[in-house]
Amino acid sequence: MKPEPNRSMEYHVLPPKGLLNDPNGLIYYKGLYHVFFQWNPHGTDHSFKYWGHATSSDLVTYEYHEAALQPVDWFDKNGCYSGSAIEHDGKLYLFYTGNVKSEEGERTSYQCLAVSEDGMSFKKLGPVTRHPEGYTQHMRDPKVMRGEDGVFYMILGAQRDDLTGDTVAYRSEDLLSWEFMGSIMSVREKLGYMWECPDILKLKGKDVFVFSPQGLEPEGYRFNNIFQTGYYMGCFQGGRFHWDGQPFEELDRGFEFYAPQTFVDEKGRTILFGWMGTMPSEMENAMPTVKEGWVHHLSLPREVSTAGGKLVQVPVEELRSLRHEKKEYSGRNIGFEIPHRAYELGIRLEGNVETFDLLYRNEIKIRFEAVGRRFIVERTNWATSLRETRSVTLDGNLKSIEIYTEETSMEIFINSGEEVFSLRYFAKEDDRKVSMEIEGAGSGIEAVSYRLE
Ligand code: FRU
Repeated sequence: MKPEPNRSMEYHVLPPKGLLNDPNGLIYYKGLYHVFFQWNPHGTDHSFKYWGHATSSDLVTYEYHEAALQPVDWFDKNGCYSGSAIEHDGKLYLFYTGNVKSEEGERTSYQCLAVSEDGMSFKKLGPVTRHPEGYTQHMRDPKVMRGEDGVFYMILGAQRDDLTGDTVAYRSEDLLSWEFMGSIMSVREKLGYMWECPDILKLKGKDVFVFSPQGLEPEGYRFNNIFQTGYYMGCFQGGRFHWDGQPFEELDRGFEFYAPQTFVDEKGRTILFGWMGTMPSEMENAMPTVKEGWVHHLSLPREVSTAGGKLVQVPVEELRSLRHEKKEYSGRNIGFEIPHRAYELGIRLEGNVETFDLLYRNEIKIRFEAVGRRFIVERTNWATSLRETRSVTLDGNLKSIEIYTEETSMEIFINSGEEVFSLRYFAKEDDRKVSMEIEGAGSGIEAVSYRLE
């Protein structure tokens, strides 16, 4: 039976009920965008992992379908874990990790294949690789891509026997038989104990290796979430990633962002969805939406590119079709109310900005200080009720902020997507005020807002 859509939000992919985590199998196939996701339809915890399935013709509204993969076979009985999709000879191939746990709690990971001719029903073909020497059973999240040489490459998040994170590659001519190639890294850097959800983005002039390492210690303003997602730049060729040596950079500076995946659509755009989750279990369990029977959602789809040695992300242009009731504001000190559940706010800053402050529904505070070029986002932790911040040093001055928000979710794009903060928040329902203030000679704010519908 087709699951009833969950209407708590309109523009984010969210679980029809239960728990959602990573985006999986993103692809444009036979005229539709397919967005699969890690899904527990039975509860708001992580005990079961299916592949949920939504499709869209426009990346704005989604239709939900029956689960594409269910954890019912010997090779995936404890979870159809994350993976990816690729089209070949008109068929849709899904690669995913079958997670199996013994009675003693020991894990075995199988990299599995399921094939579909219509994008709606999937036939499982079972495991397609052999586990390599030198790596623990923490090996998962196959991302399969076609190389420039016509060969298929599968990259996998991995853990070496010495308990350090890595990413490995397999190669195949036919997507059915796979040969192990070893680590993709040309240079080895120790970065945590496990790398999850690896992805390679082939962008103009640069390849970007995105992954989610676990086990990084906080370093000042960096790595303050429980797990991080970030990237290296370089060149991916013949199954090897030739890293250019620039340090691992976080992809999103917010509180809730993890395990993103990208795909190239029919227009040639590289589009990314992330999971707006990953949080300590105390926070996950205390999430106010648990009472409504669901937790977590995906980020909005973002078009990614590179500029100035950085990954840049902007909401896909299709989201502009939602704009209604344009309102404009200008001045040095602005205040207004927003009675809408889904909302876009565009802010341009003129002149010499010394400080900029924004207070949103008496819950989220945004501040920029030109001294140190720090951009700071503050919110209330809903489990502890304490205020907490995430922040980043901008490359230059603050010029613009684009905010997309639904009732409990916010994505903040800074300076045309040079930096992004994704977060959940829970404001008092009756507080709908927004205020902004700027300091600095000749400075001013130009803002425009839209109800999204
Ligand atoms: C990342 C992850 C993946 C795994 C999946 C299981 O959030 O841990 O590595 O495949 O979630 O749901």
